[in-house]
Amino acid sequence: MTQQDKHIPVLLAEVLSYIEPQANKNYIDATLGGGGYTEALLKKNAPLGKVMCFDLDSDAILLAQKRLSLWQDRVIYINDNFSTIKSKIDEYKFDKIGGIVCDLGYSFLQIKDRSRGFSFESQGELDLRYNKQTSLTGHEIVNTWQENDIARILKDYGEEPLARKIAKLIVSERKKTKITSQILRELIIKAYRQRWSTPSRINPATRTWQALRIAVNDEFYHLKIFLQQAIAVLPKTSRLAIVSFHSLEDKIIKDYFKQEAKDCICPKELSKCICQHRAQIKIITKKPIIPTAQEIQRNPRSRSAKLRVIEKIN
Ligand SMILES: C[S@@+](CC[C@H](N)C(=O)[O-])C[C@H]1O[C@@H](n2cnc3c(N)ncnc32)[C@H](O)[C@@H]1O
Repeated sequence: MTQQDKHIPVLLAEVLSYIEPQANKNYIDATLGGGGYTEALLKKNAPLGKVMCFDLDSDAILLAQKRLSLWQDRVIYINDNFSTIKSKIDEYKFDKIGGIVCDLGYSFLQIKDRSRGFSFESQGELDLRYNKQTSLTGHEIVNTWQENDIARILKDYGEEPLARKIAKLIVSERKKTKITSQILRELIIKAYRQRWSTPSRINPATRTWQALRIAVNDEFYHLKIFLQQAIAVLPKTSRLAIVSFHSLEDKIIKDYFKQEAKDCICPKELSKCICQHRAQIKIITKKPIIPTAQEIQRNPRSRSAKLRVIEKIN
């Protein structure tokens, strides 16, 4: 694999500086991808520390197994959703956890494989599954879902201002032909041309693709479960570092961290606390950490990345 074929890890130096991996401690990489974070952790937690890493994509696991073969005795590969983190820790009796890292979304390896549909420049069927064993695909959504349901996900998961219009065009076009990636792209361009004459700064297909990917993989549901469980399994003084790539994901993370950093989460109207909620974490990054101009130049995909870090206190 050449340097150009590799996924370049985003905000890696920053993640490591907050997690401070120690020799012989164990770590969890919730999103293995190209193995960049895992490799960096393995170099720091040698000689006996282990890394448990998750990926829904069996291709990502196979490639990382090759890349990380030097350290095979210290890696536990889990081809499952990171929302199963708690049960996997119990199953493997994984202890001495020094920290958890998570880098959301898709990897360069996935976007490069045009048959998977992650790029809005792809041709053919829209797949968009991280895990090829699950049944729902983007193809099924655009070719069978009701217009209202398509519009709802485009709005809720993509913040697409033309959600209704695009959904209507999809449903009308599919009476004539199957909606492929290419046709979907053309319908989005048509919707935008009818509404605005000046092209927008970002490709208008970005929002629709994001929405479909989130729906296919039920990303928000699994992210919320992961956050809950990751904080629950972290030992006191250990940290969770999480990188996200769009505002909806970042908001879920920020809001959950804020809630778990508070002693009381009762509604404001109540004069007395009845929730008995206790802060479990402290927020280490008051504002999200973003890539430097040099990193963005080296790796343009990093431009929308945001890193948030918490530390377990209770
Ligand atoms: C951005 S890449 C991670 C890149 C990695 N940090 C590196 O340095 O190479 C994200 C990976 O997470 C996987 N993924 C996304 N959502 C997941 C989930 N809910 N559970 C497990 N893996 C997931 C994707 O399949 C993808 O391979």
